[in-house]
Amino acid sequence: MVTPKFKKFKIEAYKPGKSKVRKLKKVIKLSANESALGISPMAKRLISNKKMILDKYPDGKSQVLRKAISKKYNCDFNKIICGAGSDEVIQMLCQLYLNPKDEVIVPEYSFLMYRIYAKIVGAKVLFAKELNFKVSTKEILKKISRKTKMVFIANPNNPTATYLTKKEILELRNKLNKNILLVVDDAYSEYMANKDYTSGLDLFRNRDNVFILRTFSKMFGLASLRVGWGYGSKKIIDTLNVIKPPFNVNGIGQLAAAESLKDKKFISKSIKHNLFYANKLKKFLEIYNISTNKISANFLFLNFDRSKISAKYLYEKLKQKGIILRSTVDGYGIKNKLRLTIGSNEENLKFMNAVKRILN
Ligand SMILES: Cc1ncc(COP(=O)(O)O)c(C=O)c1O
Repeated sequence: MVTPKFKKFKIEAYKPGKSKVRKLKKVIKLSANESALGISPMAKRLISNKKMILDKYPDGKSQVLRKAISKKYNCDFNKIICGAGSDEVIQMLCQLYLNPKDEVIVPEYSFLMYRIYAKIVGAKVLFAKELNFKVSTKEILKKISRKTKMVFIANPNNPTATYLTKKEILELRNKLNKNILLVVDDAYSEYMANKDYTSGLDLFRNRDNVFILRTFSKMFGLASLRVGWGYGSKKIIDTLNVIKPPFNVNGIGQLAAAESLKDKKFISKSIKHNLFYANKLKKFLEIYNISTNKISANFLFLNFDRSKISAKYLYEKLKQKGIILRSTVDGYGIKNKLRLTIGSNEENLKFMNAVKRILN
């Protein structure tokens, strides 16, 4: 049988946080930065009670959801595009902006889909060094050339959980050539309580050369429904709408996402829960000389350089007990570190007990 020839890609496929352990039926998954408290009760109620229309296509323009977003975040309905996860918006942006040989700059340890989608359309990806696992604006600026089209930054950054302050990110935009698109991925911004931080949306909502990414997969707990959105100039959004798959966001996802934005109680509970446990876990891990970042998102970046044990050792021991963390070697190539998602009360306590048993 002949397989007609297709394009060849020099790309390492995305490796998600693992969710299974062989021979174990039940595991604690702390590997994918999903919501600790699940889905918003209001959204859950709505999608359980409402008679869903599943035999008709969903609204391809996600109008109800875009209205809810524009109301919640005080931004322009016409400058919002929804995607099957922010993932799809990243893909569409790369399709819109990049020609073969154009250059894209990403921090060396950044969310993997930026480099993957950029490479798929033939662009060249340049990696800007980080300083102590923090994005360095200086190193990004060093990589700029006449071929640079886009710079991607997640703030706070995944997997390192460090962030650029308001001052630093404004400075980056000011120093970047005006015709380079800065993409600021706010995936974890809802969790941020640090005074020196401002989200991309709040800083740049009126800037035509900044594009903002947001997701319902993290704090809003809708990872499985695949809903995200992008915010950019009307010109960019209008053209993204031309290349967008016609019914990209499913109907249940649109409804649940719009409803979850209204669930103030769930939002504030999620933020409090995250801060409480991020601090508790940070202090707990320090007892074992496992250091972490300053609290930012819903995950911690565990550094084992001062610890008696290695990241790999703890990863394997926890896995045997059915607790899964994210290896930072897979995809990111970062040695002797792990990424830990803040879980529910029960998950966090089980994690701490397991570490105690392994290390004492
Ligand atoms: C920084 C960042 N951006 C985007 C995403 C993708 O989110 P979505 O589920 O909306 O595609 C993730 C998921 O881990 C992420 O960490």
